[in-house]
Amino acid sequence: MELFENCIVGKIKVRDRIIRSATHDGLADPSHEGPSEELIRRYVFMAQNDVGCIIQGYAIVSPDGRSNYPRCLGFFNPDSAPMYRKLVERVHAAGAPIVAQLAHCGRQTSSKAIGVKKIAPTAKRHLLYPDKARAMTPEDIRRVENDFISAIVKAKEYGYDGVQLHLAHGYLLHDFISENGNKRKDEYGGCTENRLRIVKEIIVGARKKVGDYPIWVKLSANDKRSKGMRTPYAVEVAKLLEKYGVDAIEVSCGSVQDGMNTMRSKRFPMDAIFAYREPVASLPRVLNRVTLALAKLVNPLIPQPKPLELFNVPAAYEIKKAVSLDLIVVGGITDVADMKKIVENGVSAVSMCRPFICEPNFARKLKEGTATKSRCIMCNCCGLVIEKEPTRCLMGKVHYPLKKRGEE
Ligand SMILES: Cc1cc2nc3c(=O)[nH]c(=O)nc-3n(C[C@H](O)[C@H](O)[C@H](O)COP(=O)(O)O)c2cc1C
Ligand code: SF4
Repeated sequence: MELFENCIVGKIKVRDRIIRSATHDGLADPSHEGPSEELIRRYVFMAQNDVGCIIQGYAIVSPDGRSNYPRCLGFFNPDSAPMYRKLVERVHAAGAPIVAQLAHCGRQTSSKAIGVKKIAPTAKRHLLYPDKARAMTPEDIRRVENDFISAIVKAKEYGYDGVQLHLAHGYLLHDFISENGNKRKDEYGGCTENRLRIVKEIIVGARKKVGDYPIWVKLSANDKRSKGMRTPYAVEVAKLLEKYGVDAIEVSCGSVQDGMNTMRSKRFPMDAIFAYREPVASLPRVLNRVTLALAKLVNPLIPQPKPLELFNVPAAYEIKKAVSLDLIVVGGITDVADMKKIVENGVSAVSMCRPFICEPNFARKLKEGTATKSRCIMCNCCGLVIEKEPTRCLMGKVHYPLKKRGEE
């Protein structure tokens, strides 16, 4: 397999094997939660610059699955349909396919943000959003399944080339799959098949309505939770997903509770944390700066997950041995030589997030040979900006004074 070749990945015709991994852009239109013009322009630019395929940032399927991040996409308001159609049309006209990532935040949000008590497979707290979720009833499960199915139907109607179910990073479906989040005693918990039942029912229900429309998933093959995801268990999960008719698996890792595991970095981006994450961001200025100085002193002593590069490639190779569907791998991939090696070894595509935040025309640079490696310094500041503002690259620098929310 070649990195730069037209090919089929997960039943979708892609331009090359370099995929933009789903990235929350913080650019939904607040009035209908569909894409804004600015988001469309961002995607069109990537599409004009040789990206093989764009996986759209996560869009929420039910109002009670909303994110805590501002301006997150929603896939439930019919008023957003014209803008979704427009986005797809413009990205296609620029030459790239586009996949809609669909998610429900489960307990990885706050009840305050969604306006009702948040839900999860099991009543449980979240390290960063500590109000306790309520355990889902069988009726809740049916409703959420139907919301996912309706969203898949909508994605097809809007013209998306496929969907990706978000089974990763601690969101609701990850919580169902993992024994850490799922202690249910009914048919939705207790063994691998039961923990995957909700995903199976979504896929079976969707297939009745959309036929063989491409359905991908993103899976955290590993996380740092006790009784959580580990590669051998992820292999079992992948085999079942293949049996249920999934067309491609993007291999990722981590949960938001794991800190910097999904997107690794040498150090916590303390400046960005103290600028963008509550409650510390709203501390009185002097207290904010004093605690920031202390946090910076201890920061080098806080161990971070390793390795920092190519960190899901070993799991992807293990899963590849067990399934024949297409695999995509994300996480710390920055160098074209590594990308070529990964696809030569049988992984159908590489995907990246931070390299495209840093250089939205990264695929073009690689293709033309004007760059061989991403300029992203993996500082993770962009992962904090999203708590208050649209996603952007800060290249390790937080500029003070910050504007207050709502200020022009
Ligand atoms: C700002 C930001 C937003 C992200 N949004 C999403 C998202 O919407 N859906 C998702 O599955 N992963 C999301 N991620 C995780 C990335 O897709 C990716 O899995 C992770 O950053 C590792 O890839 P990288 O090393 O190429 O950045 C996000 C990461 C960042 C930094
Ligand atoms: S802020 Fe920029 S340099 Fe830092 S991780 Fe994000 S994209 Fe890379």
